[in-house]
This record gives sequence, structure tokens and C-alpha cells, in this order.
Amino acid sequence: MKKIVAGNWKMNMNYKEACILFDDLVAEGPMPEDITVLVAPPALYLSEFMLRADTGSGISIAAQNVHYMPNGAFTGEISANMLASLAIQYCIVGHSERRQLFGESSEIVARKVKALVENGITPLLCVGEMLDERYAGRHFDVVAEQVLTGLSQIEKSQVVKVVIAYEPVWAIGTGQTASSAQAQEVHAFIRNLLNDHFGQTTASAVPILYGGSCNPGNARELFEMPDIDGGLIGGASLKKDDFIRIIQSF
Ligand code: PGA
Repeated sequence: MKKIVAGNWKMNMNYKEACILFDDLVAEGPMPEDITVLVAPPALYLSEFMLRADTGSGISIAAQNVHYMPNGAFTGEISANMLASLAIQYCIVGHSERRQLFGESSEIVARKVKALVENGITPLLCVGEMLDERYAGRHFDVVAEQVLTGLSQIEKSQVVKVVIAYEPVWAIGTGQTASSAQAQEVHAFIRNLLNDHFGQTTASAVPILYGGSCNPGNARELFEMPDIDGGLIGGASLKKDDFIRIIQSF
């Protein structure tokens, strides 16, 4: 399975700063062929970055969010077919910040997954428990619900088109990474869940990324785990050298 390292820039950097960082990354390329390197900039810069990346850089562009409707009166929103019309191939969905700050339920996330798959875009479906849920020993239940509901609107045969990102909410932006053992435990759980519901071929084909305070110091240990197929990187993706070192951790 091809490894994936994705940088989620969130709502950071003005246009000029974003272009400088992106051009710096492109200048480091081409990226290793056995790793899919993704950059998810603010939506405003997507079309610009598609042009800038289109030079054999080995960097693909991802959106951070999408609406599930194809078009219509949804002020401020962007649809999957709009992303597809720019030839964007990846989109993050169900990030915990969207779930918590923008009230996205797993049902809404599922509709977004469906809209993306129908438009030939790979969803990066984010799942992960909050700290109190982990303390209460409910993390497996929370993750199972988010995975299974998130995938509930697509055909079983389409599940291979999805990437899953396990991001424990308590590890996001906190500097507190899950230990490689803690992460592996949940990744293996997700792999088994996929196996039980969608079969062995699908389970072994769906990449499961880890996210949450992943940095150059801990990436190698995390990526060595058997069920960790890459990373979704927030803060460290805003620094060129850190992001490159994370990519090189494989
Ligand atoms: P972080 O964010 O690396 O800054 O913890 C990860 C994410 O939110 O995807």
C-alpha cells in the first residue's frame, strides 16, 4: 500500500505566505514516488495551488472540507463537483474541528463522503475520540461509530476509495501525541472493523493515517507500526523542514 503524508494547513497563512511555503515544498521535490504527499491549503488557494503543483512535483492538493450538495443556495459552501472541476483528487472530511466547532454529525460526514466518492475524489475521513471518552474507555465505540456511519452512504465496493485518519482529539494541536502503541491499538481496531464489515481485501487496501501532534521527532516510530500507513499533519506541516523530515521518516 502506498504511504500517505498529508499536511492540513487549516486556516493559516495569507496568500503570499502560503505561496512561499508551497513553492518551497515544490522546490524540495520531486517527492518520493512511493509516498503520496498531500497539501490541504485554505480553499481560497486551491486553484492557484493546482497550477503551481502541476509540474511533476509529486505533491497533490487536497481540500479541507466540502458540502454534500452538488450546487444551490448554500452561501459560502463548495461542492464536490466544483473540486472535481479543478481536478482535485483528495478532500478531508469529518475533521474533529468541523465536528466540534461546526456541528458536523457523522450523518453529515457520511453524505460528504458519498458526494466525494461520486465525484471521483478520495475522502480522508477523520475519526477520533475526545479525552473524556478515552478516560471512560469508550474510544473504540466512538471510533467504530464514526467509521461505520461515515462509510454508510457508499457501496461496500466503494470503501476502498476512502482513506481513514485516526486523530485522537486530545492529541490535536496539543503537543501530546498518542504513543505509538496507543495509536497502533486503535489502527488495528479500525483494520479489524473494516475486515468484519467490508472484507479482507478492502481492509488491507484502505490506508489508515495517524494525526495529532505528529512531528519529525515521533513520526518514524509511529510510521513503523504495522497498521499506520502515514500521517495527517497539522502544525508541523506549516514548517517546510519539519514537513519534509516527516515525509522522510518512512
Ligand atoms: P496537529 O493537527 O498535527 O497540529 O496536531 C493534526 C490535524 O488536526 O489534522
